[in-house]
Amino acid sequence: MTPLARLLRERIAQDGPITVDTFMREALTHPQFGYYMTRNPLGRAGDFVTAPEVSQIFGEMIGLWCADLWPRAGAPRPVNLVELGPGRGTLMADALRAGAAVPGFGDAVQVHLVEASPVLREYQARMLGAHRPTWHGDVDDLPDGPSIVVANEFFDALPVRQFVRQADAWAERCVGLDPDSGGLAFVTGPVVDLADPPIDSGDVYERSAVAEAVMQGLVERLRASGGALLMVDYGHVQDGCGETLQAVRAHERVPVLAAPGEADLTAHVSFARLSAAARAFGARVCGPADQGVFLRRLGAEARAAALCRGKDEATRRDLVAGLRRLIDPTQMGTMFKVLAVTHPDWPAPDGLDACS
Ligand SMILES: C[S@@+](CC[C@H](N)C(=O)[O-])C[C@H]1O[C@@H](n2cnc3c(N)ncnc32)[C@H](O)[C@@H]1O
Repeated sequence: MTPLARLLRERIAQDGPITVDTFMREALTHPQFGYYMTRNPLGRAGDFVTAPEVSQIFGEMIGLWCADLWPRAGAPRPVNLVELGPGRGTLMADALRAGAAVPGFGDAVQVHLVEASPVLREYQARMLGAHRPTWHGDVDDLPDGPSIVVANEFFDALPVRQFVRQADAWAERCVGLDPDSGGLAFVTGPVVDLADPPIDSGDVYERSAVAEAVMQGLVERLRASGGALLMVDYGHVQDGCGETLQAVRAHERVPVLAAPGEADLTAHVSFARLSAAARAFGARVCGPADQGVFLRRLGAEARAAALCRGKDEATRRDLVAGLRRLIDPTQMGTMFKVLAVTHPDWPAPDGLDACS
């Protein structure tokens, strides 16, 4: 049993079941035992690999996306270049290097990182120290001013509630104790009055109030000072039922309640609900587009060809394999989606379909 499982069992035995979003929050960011608070989970030796760790082309394309938008938005100086959940800092390092190709962009940006993990902050400091980043624990702590915000696999780490369909109502799904083993187990909690319930007929419905609150906070900033958010994540385009909360450890799926604090937990992002939240607070939304389509529109294939020039065969093979993994529809190309949210007066960003 993990130390956090022991702690949660004691708490549930004393106070009763906890909601799934409370479980997820504790499992990921408990100050002492939370998954992200105690380790670097990224890479082959860790639990999972993200797009920036697959190929430098991912961060480079995102850097060019930012640097292309900036002069068309009037080249504000300074401009906050913000990353939410920067992991090892790889995406931001690649983005800054690529963005420097646009005259003035490198000098105009002030780098801000929103990161909960003290361990990952150290990695980011090593990777990005030359750019003098400022760290924040929360989106609400970001400074005012025009901002370009990027987030890869950040929203999927934000806690979701789960609801279970009853005869004619929805009940909160909770984490309680198994009466026989005493271990953590899913239990059905109280009936809830769900505003905007899903219209399809599945049995489990997930919703992240935290993700929607983060979107609201960002949109209020973008509306006040100008700016844009680019988020990349896996998720569904329509809001609907389906259980997507999953735990991953050493690149394998494990039961969600098996190892709190020692397995990553994610849930699919509802692009429909986040888009609706962004529009409701006055932003313009572009996309979502498939990651593969977005990267190809931005020139990922030409960049790979340029990187291959003059390289030995093994290096070329690695570069092409990395690109394929990012854009191929059978790999990350359709599983991940890209959404942009902008101030209504900012120019339309590159790589995405019509905005509304
Ligand atoms: C799946 S990793 C993605 C890392 C990076 N974006 C990448 O693509 O390699 C999630 C990141 O979000 C951070 N994170 C998770 N929950 C957070 C929260 N509630 N507040 C701030 N950062 C959080 C993690 O520490 C980590 O840096």
